[in-house]
Amino acid sequence: MIDFKSRIAEIIAATEIGLTPAEVRAMIEVPQDSKMGDFAFPCFRLAKTMRKAPQLIAADVAARIADNELFSSVQQVNAYVNMFLDKAAFAKELVTAVTEEGANYGRSNGGAGRTVIVEYSSPNIAKPFHIGHIRSTVIGNAIYKLYDAVGFNVVRINHLGDYGTQFGKMIVAYRKWGSEEELAHDPIKTLLKYYTRFHEEAAEHPELNDEAREAFVRLEAGAPEEVALWEKFRALSLAEFNRVYDMLGITFDSYAGESFYSDKMPRFIEELKEKGLLVQSQGAQIVDLEPYGMTPAMITKSDGSSLYVTRDIAAAVYRKEHYDFYKCLYVVASQQNLHFKQWKKVLELMGYEWQKDCIHVPFGLVSLADGDDIKMMSTREGRVVFLEDVLTTAVDKTAEIMRQKNAKDVDIDTVSREVGIGAVIFQELSNNRIKDYVFDWNNVLNFDGETGPYVQYTHARACSVLRNAGVDVNKLSVNDIDFSYLTIPSAYELIKLIYRVPEVVVDAADKYEPSILTRHLVDIAQAFNKFYHDEHILVDDEAERSAKLALVNASRIVIANCLGLLGIKAPERM
Ligand code: ARG
Repeated sequence: MIDFKSRIAEIIAATEIGLTPAEVRAMIEVPQDSKMGDFAFPCFRLAKTMRKAPQLIAADVAARIADNELFSSVQQVNAYVNMFLDKAAFAKELVTAVTEEGANYGRSNGGAGRTVIVEYSSPNIAKPFHIGHIRSTVIGNAIYKLYDAVGFNVVRINHLGDYGTQFGKMIVAYRKWGSEEELAHDPIKTLLKYYTRFHEEAAEHPELNDEAREAFVRLEAGAPEEVALWEKFRALSLAEFNRVYDMLGITFDSYAGESFYSDKMPRFIEELKEKGLLVQSQGAQIVDLEPYGMTPAMITKSDGSSLYVTRDIAAAVYRKEHYDFYKCLYVVASQQNLHFKQWKKVLELMGYEWQKDCIHVPFGLVSLADGDDIKMMSTREGRVVFLEDVLTTAVDKTAEIMRQKNAKDVDIDTVSREVGIGAVIFQELSNNRIKDYVFDWNNVLNFDGETGPYVQYTHARACSVLRNAGVDVNKLSVNDIDFSYLTIPSAYELIKLIYRVPEVVVDAADKYEPSILTRHLVDIAQAFNKFYHDEHILVDDEAERSAKLALVNASRIVIANCLGLLGIKAPERM
């Protein structure tokens, strides 16, 4: 990774201002406005120690470093030293680094030796894997890739919702109205149908609820028949979820869901009791959170069965003991804010100091634009859209667009999958995750907007320029290139954006905010297209042409790498 900041810090520290290079490095800024330089060094902090006005210090530092060959110019503006890098030197460093590092450009190793857990997706067994889950799945996967790219050891956990009293209901419903055949044909929709029917009938025959409770108690006690049914539901559901994960190219390291903790709970209930935290309340056991302005956390129900929060307590301790995480991230909707606040408070009260490293990474709601032509299904909770249908529709619509565009030499089957699914992922990661947003095909698949297809198309365009030039990208060398050809404004702007990729990746990981990278990627694609339109690339002059092609190749690499970090493919032809 090229580190101009460190090199500049050494140059500045050598002017004897009483700071180490590391201290100087931490103070160096990248001005928002490129007219203020590529880098700036503010001197305010030095005024005290040097007993001199900061403007005068800045003037002195500027004068002493101006001759360095790294800079084309150094200016003092108020308390700042503004530095402009020599453009050709900069272009050379950057294009060389990207060409040499290839698929690794953008990666760094600040996280080496530490483990981060990313828990995401976590759908509920026998319930729809609906469009709401797409957010957790896609954002979580991007966060995993970002942490991996900054060198952490990352464990991906799918905390399946595979436990709880609803399975008692499902078992009873299946026994009463279920058909093996119907179930095998379309598992989740069928189970959902039985479940809905259970609620309808239970409204008139409340004794059904007692039956369900008994079935759940037997399930918890490990009764073979109930366990077999539960396992069947779980396996059928997982097979359906895996279809979606395959489409998205997502895998997990662990599917230890809620049921995994069912036998680990007594220890914590005992511990809560010992620490004097459990209070009896109408037969149930709770932790009173009133002093912290929250409703109580219910630990066991009056029938002794455990709850969602209890299983999350067991899961957190298990993960700490098993993985010794540096951070454990929970990518879960902001609707569950209260749950996570209560849970963290309980862990804190239990004396688990590491609870501060458990971080809820919330996100907003997604809704559908009016009149969107997508299949819906009614459930007790309302009308839901299945994620699988969204993905298939995206692929179909993309194939249609590509046929209209008359794409040549393109394997429409493969590419429409890569672009259609990529478009849905990109859309998910475009906005600040906490914002609610409206899913609208007109935005998602717009090839000219700030979308996945636009960025992928830019990548394919770069590939096509290189193909037309007859460049073998695996053999492209940057040794004899005259980089002064890349100091023209559109090329230089592109170079500066590419240079910032590694630090943007770190920033996006630190903030659990993939959209920081998505937006930067859009900036790169736009800068590339400006370069492409402003400049004639395949010029006759050999030296100029080689320099420009080297930048096209670097752009191709970087766009593909960034798409990869978001979980999106980069087709070479579109
Ligand atoms: N299964 C839950 C749902 O679909 C999400 C689980 C979130 N993770 C957790 N550790 N509580 O709403």
